[in-house]
Amino acid sequence: MTRQHEAQAAIRAVGLTKRFGTRQALAGVDLEAPAGTVLGVLGPNGAGKTTTVRILSTLLRPDAGRAWVAGRNVASDPHGVRERLGLSGQYAAVDEKLTGRENLYLVARLYGMPRRAARRRAAELLADFRLQEAADRPSGTFSGGMRRRLDLAGALVAKPPVVVLDEPTTGLDPRGRTDTWGAVRELVAAGTTVLLTTQYLEEADQLADSIAVIDRGRVIARGSAGALKARVGGERLALTLPDPGSRARALGILAGLGPHTPDFDPRTGRCTVATDDGVRALEHALALLRLADVAVEEVSLAPPTLDDVFLALTGGDRARRAEPGRRGPVSHRRGAA
Ligand SMILES: Nc1ncnc2c1ncn2[C@@H]1O[C@H](COP(=O)(O)OP(=O)(O)OP(=O)(O)O)[C@@H](O)[C@H]1O
Ligand SMILES: [Mg+2]
Repeated sequence: MTRQHEAQAAIRAVGLTKRFGTRQALAGVDLEAPAGTVLGVLGPNGAGKTTTVRILSTLLRPDAGRAWVAGRNVASDPHGVRERLGLSGQYAAVDEKLTGRENLYLVARLYGMPRRAARRRAAELLADFRLQEAADRPSGTFSGGMRRRLDLAGALVAKPPVVVLDEPTTGLDPRGRTDTWGAVRELVAAGTTVLLTTQYLEEADQLADSIAVIDRGRVIARGSAGALKARVGGERLALTLPDPGSRARALGILAGLGPHTPDFDPRTGRCTVATDDGVRALEHALALLRLADVAVEEVSLAPPTLDDVFLALTGGDRARRAEPGRRGPVSHRRGAA
């Protein structure tokens, strides 16, 4: 790779590996985000998202591999990287004794802003993240979502050219999520490069110019949302089969419709199958199911979501993916936000 190429990509990682004890957290991750774009790193719990973020933001050294942020090497020029990178970690880091305004003012001063500019920037960000009302009470009294927003605001104080957001909307209510999306879009419009990790497929679909899907420390797919969707075939025919007695018959019929294997969730009775024939496939399927006396509820035909892409890429085994006691990667449904 040429020097020029390295400089053009605002974020670039090559062959990152990291092991914790016996656990291989990263097994060779390559990433690249051209300047002024959003790279979405999508993956379930334990995939290696935070480990990647910590390496890019110089908080952790990789065992092998190299990375650059805004043209600076994370290993040989960590100071240069930190000057050019705003980070909002997975767990909000705010000083609970300070008010929201003081937290932001302090960050601005640490970045070397003069007092007046620091005050102005803090006020701007408090407004952007709807924190004005609570601005002057200790952030220890903030709700989880408010802390999260304050931490995000902190990452943006110095208007760095590269911003890394680790699960920026986890734990936010729908309004908080929309605000955050708006903030990311504004950043990008102003030329900032953003890397964001998410378990919300909808979020990557909404924001990211390109997406890297990671699973168990490896990038298993990359491309635009559209390109990823194209990989799993055309539209998705979804239907709910309320009667357990006829499900096996129904799945046999649906499997016979085309080359794609139906995905079935026994908990909900919902069956999804990719189809390249759209409405014709839908009509055909319903006719065959009626002949076979199979009860059907809630029929729909829709373009594939990133949920579908993820299921197709990872083999569709939901139960295997979720770490005990944690939210699974595909619990978020389009329209739930
Ligand atoms: N400091 C550590 N010590 C030991 N194991 C770790 C450490 N940090 C991460 N791991 C392990 O490395 C793997 C990747 O973790 P990482 O935090 O990068 O995942 P993630 O994609 O951010 O997951 P989540 O969505 O839950 O935040 C996991 O199996 C995790 O348990
Ligand atoms: Mg994480």
